[in-house]
Amino acid sequence: MSSPANAVARHAHENFARYPSLADRVVLITGGATGIGASFVEHFAAQGARVAFFDIDATAGEALADELGDSRHKPLFARVDLTDIAALRAAIADVKAALGPIEVLVNNAANDKRHTLAEVTPEFFDAGIAVNVRHQLFAAQAVAEDMKAARRGSIINLGSISWMLKNADYPVYVMSKSAVQGLTRGLAKDLGQHGIRVNSLVPGWVMTQKQRDLWLTDEGREAIKRGQCIDAELLPEDLARMALFLAADDSRMITSQDIVVDGGWA
Ligand SMILES: NC(=O)c1ccc[n+]([C@@H]2O[C@H](COP(=O)([O-])OP(=O)(O)OC[C@H]3O[C@@H](n4cnc5c(N)ncnc54)[C@H](O)[C@@H]3O)[C@@H](O)[C@H]2O)c1
Repeated sequence: MSSPANAVARHAHENFARYPSLADRVVLITGGATGIGASFVEHFAAQGARVAFFDIDATAGEALADELGDSRHKPLFARVDLTDIAALRAAIADVKAALGPIEVLVNNAANDKRHTLAEVTPEFFDAGIAVNVRHQLFAAQAVAEDMKAARRGSIINLGSISWMLKNADYPVYVMSKSAVQGLTRGLAKDLGQHGIRVNSLVPGWVMTQKQRDLWLTDEGREAIKRGQCIDAELLPEDLARMALFLAADDSRMITSQDIVVDGGWA
């Protein structure tokens, strides 16, 4: 799909907002090696933030860190399986030791693997929760004390419009993604007392390489055209620019919200 809106989306960083409050800020992004997460890593690094990111895909993660080596701070990559909470906690402790207290957490990793209701076993169910939502709570828990001490922090949980649209073919994913928004509201009051903000960033159908390769069909393109108000592809950078805003001090009184970036579909 080629449109003026797509042309705008692909403009270089200098055509978009700069956030002085993000310079040198320590930002942790989960699932940052590919897809939307990689765009988060790139955009925060371009703001001069000190970025750490975790992913199970070490090849892509190391390549991205090297690609961004000329940034003010080269991003720090660690291979972490986020379904292993002990490993997640240890990796977060390593980031703190290397970069200092984490001030922004972007809980991004997930897996939208398709499945039928009939094939869901208790083990599959638990694995779906573990990859899509459980690590978000434990990552928030692991950064909360430092944020409390700093009286400042921004936690951004990636949701999805899939449950709002009643999408079929992946019920455990859809359920997990609705829980993300419950998690945001469940944490916002407790943490807000300490100056920490918690928001959900809720994407529509974002045209990552994986979506194009695995899930996008002609029927899907038609559904996007019918569903979105804006007739343009939703791109990872559209989400990244909202994440920057939610992380920066510019949004200091925004918390407990679901910020939907979907071209006007849900
Ligand atoms: N792409 C979309 O259309 C879309 C739509 C709605 C919501 N979202 C949400 O946005 C976020 C990013 O989406 P995406 O499409 O870029 O996802 P993706 O599946 O393309 O990438 C997620 C990243 O997480 C990593 N990852 C997966 N399992 C992991 C594990 N166990 N440990 C560590 N890393 C792991 C992957 O390697 C990958 O780099 C997700 O939370 C997703 O649910 C995406």
